[in-house]
Amino acid sequence: MKKLILTALLAVSGAMAADTLNIYTARHYDADAKLYDLFTQQTGIKVKATQAKVEELLKKLEIEGENSPADIFITADVSNLAQAKNLGVLAPINSQKLNEVVPASLRDSDGSWYAITKRARVIVYDKTKTKNPSVKNYEDLAKPEYKGKLLVRSSGSAYQKSLLASIIVADGEKEAKNWAAGVASNLAQAPKGGDRDQAKALINGDLGAQYAIMNTYYIGLMLNSKNPKDVEVAQKLGIIFPNQANRGTHVNISGAGVTKSSKDKAAAQKFVEFLLTPEAQAILTNINYEYPVNPAVAPNHVVSGFGKFKEDKTPLDKVAKEVKNAVLIYNEVGFR
Ligand code: FE2
Repeated sequence: MKKLILTALLAVSGAMAADTLNIYTARHYDADAKLYDLFTQQTGIKVKATQAKVEELLKKLEIEGENSPADIFITADVSNLAQAKNLGVLAPINSQKLNEVVPASLRDSDGSWYAITKRARVIVYDKTKTKNPSVKNYEDLAKPEYKGKLLVRSSGSAYQKSLLASIIVADGEKEAKNWAAGVASNLAQAPKGGDRDQAKALINGDLGAQYAIMNTYYIGLMLNSKNPKDVEVAQKLGIIFPNQANRGTHVNISGAGVTKSSKDKAAAQKFVEFLLTPEAQAILTNINYEYPVNPAVAPNHVVSGFGKFKEDKTPLDKVAKEVKNAVLIYNEVGFR
């Protein structure tokens, strides 16, 4: 009898529309809280976000399995999205709205995840010191003439893994390995800190470094920082969009997917669709200085001020498949 009642209760709760969506998010940006509020205003559905490191969230989703309260998984970096898919914690959705707005290269082929924002991984230099930067392509950074001139964060960063994965796709494994070895031997110091720290060391450091690799949105955040020292650093940065004469600059994404455990997949899908609406996309670009995925939305003026550029349009799920190889290569060449 008890069992029967429980089953009936589960059936009712399963069929009921959610009044709260649970979001597991590895993004750590102020823009996102604003988004949740707007979604609640528009739909009456509350949003509860659990924010943690991506490894923790993936482990949580895996352990909780079908009983996970999560409806939606959000993270930066395509390799993290691909990993969630490979763990089997995402439920593919087929949304005409999403398929229309998100280009095929920026979503999973079976609808497990969709890009919500883009960021370009660019090369920066000190424009008060360097007038005609000689670097044009990512590949240039491996040349011996740049010995001791580069600042790059650790290869453990998802951004660096995806960048190398994109080079594997473009140039092949052998060339990619030469690249990683070349860049490792050109570093001005052992990798430490995040992208912003590379920019600070480039502008303020006494390492004699000439180039650093960073994501565009960090430049936007620094330009608009409350810390005047960050603003000063960012104002001196010249931006090189690499590989403009060939495949284009590597673009990475933040993305979202509906979880397999979601008890209200229709509401969860609605939330992902909401993230791609012009209103939501405007919040994302205006607060976090990312590029909108929805072509109807113009980037924040700070972002468009970085200049127009050609994007590498290699499908990101193809890039994600090379992330494992990228990690092996970094280990092999001793790039920490
Ligand atoms: Fe980041």
